[in-house]
Amino acid sequence: MIRVITYGTFDLFHEGHYRLLKRAKELGDYLIVGITTESYDKTRGKLGVMDSLITRIENVKKSGFADEIIIEESKGQKFSDIKKYNIDIFAIGSDWLGEFDYLKDYCQVVYLERTKDISSTMLREQKQHIQRIGIIGTGRIANRFVPEAKLVSGISTQGVYNPHKESALRFAKKWDINAYTEKNRFYDEIDVAYIASPHETHYEYIKEALLHGKHVICEKPLVLHRKQAEEVYAEAKQRGLILFEAIKTAYCPGFQKLLGIACSGSIGSIRNVEACFTKLEKTSSRELVDQIYGGSFLELGSYVMLPIMKIFGNEYEKLEFDTIQGDNGLDLFTRVSMRYPMGIATATCGLGVKSEGRLLISGTQGYIVAEAPWWKTSYFEVHYEDAGKVDKYSETFLGDGLRYELSDFLTMINDREESGFKLTRGESIAIAGVMERFLTENRRNM
Ligand code: CTP
Repeated sequence: MIRVITYGTFDLFHEGHYRLLKRAKELGDYLIVGITTESYDKTRGKLGVMDSLITRIENVKKSGFADEIIIEESKGQKFSDIKKYNIDIFAIGSDWLGEFDYLKDYCQVVYLERTKDISSTMLREQKQHIQRIGIIGTGRIANRFVPEAKLVSGISTQGVYNPHKESALRFAKKWDINAYTEKNRFYDEIDVAYIASPHETHYEYIKEALLHGKHVICEKPLVLHRKQAEEVYAEAKQRGLILFEAIKTAYCPGFQKLLGIACSGSIGSIRNVEACFTKLEKTSSRELVDQIYGGSFLELGSYVMLPIMKIFGNEYEKLEFDTIQGDNGLDLFTRVSMRYPMGIATATCGLGVKSEGRLLISGTQGYIVAEAPWWKTSYFEVHYEDAGKVDKYSETFLGDGLRYELSDFLTMINDREESGFKLTRGESIAIAGVMERFLTENRRNM
């Protein structure tokens, strides 16, 4: 009996898939089809898959060609499957030509000609209304955003708004998009606003975009006052619009995996969380010059507060700041100490003092540690009392990682989901509350 195996996502099952499975089956007597999980697709950069795993399995079953269906969860799996299932032929579409030649030592590798003019990507684009995104702001993060947005299907970058004409034109020319200096035209020609302007302008821009009926994805910190956060989320809800705070760490697959392990009980009950992120900036940089809205905590606080809020929640009992200030009074280094009913937490960040950036989660049975840059989580370890036992986990983090938050934002728009679980509205509001307390206590004497 000749045993054949093939793999794919099989999203929005189409004629190309049908023809591939038919020919794969004809190569032998028994066909095994490996179908990718959502998380594996995310880690390999395939964002925006529309059908659930169950639907994709059902569709492959319905084709009638698969004798067995298995799930593909990770990159190295094909190699072990070939041994495990005693495979004679590995078949795949010709778009992968040459990619799987390394399997030739173990079985025959056949590349089947791909069916022309059809793909899941094409169907996804036809099905989805393409969201035209308009960027507000032309700084560093906006420059990272444009290439990342190109990788997510279902959106197109329409243009950029900046009240300073020169900046808008320069940015638009660099990325080959439209420049807007006139707001009404800008809002008329977009579906979604991406706010990447200075922190203190977020609140007004969010309100304005919502009033124009646009979904909003806003850079962190969303706003700097708790009441403002509550107000803008309520406004979005009332208008049936999505408002999304872009803390990229919350959406990256590695951080999701880390939280999953932390909450699974494998290190017992969690009692302590320590998160540190430092990034040295020049003393002349905006972050260290802007007397009101500069400083370490406003810049990096959202990242270090995130794991604490995710693990212990929004209801802390005590919160205290300690800062090291520069000559102009801005915080070069800040430590937040928190107490919760179940444990304690420390969030540390710095722009003018360097420290070891790490995330440490301690429990009654062990601890999880992720080294810098844990905010782009790609690797972490779980340690126990027995020092010889260490569980190691890795996960892909692609590019600048903004593609993950964007893909989740789009899913929320398409599914009309108000509050995502990766960063809930409550968590986002609580972080705004901590920002407000910091401003009140720290800028008092300035
Ligand atoms: N396939 C094919 N002809 C097509 C599309 C896909 O033969 N027109 C094959 C692929 O080469 C692969 C299998 O079908 O062997 C599953 O492919 P998959 O990646 O799920 O489908 P695509 O349509 O290529 O998906 P996407 O656009 O998301 O890459």
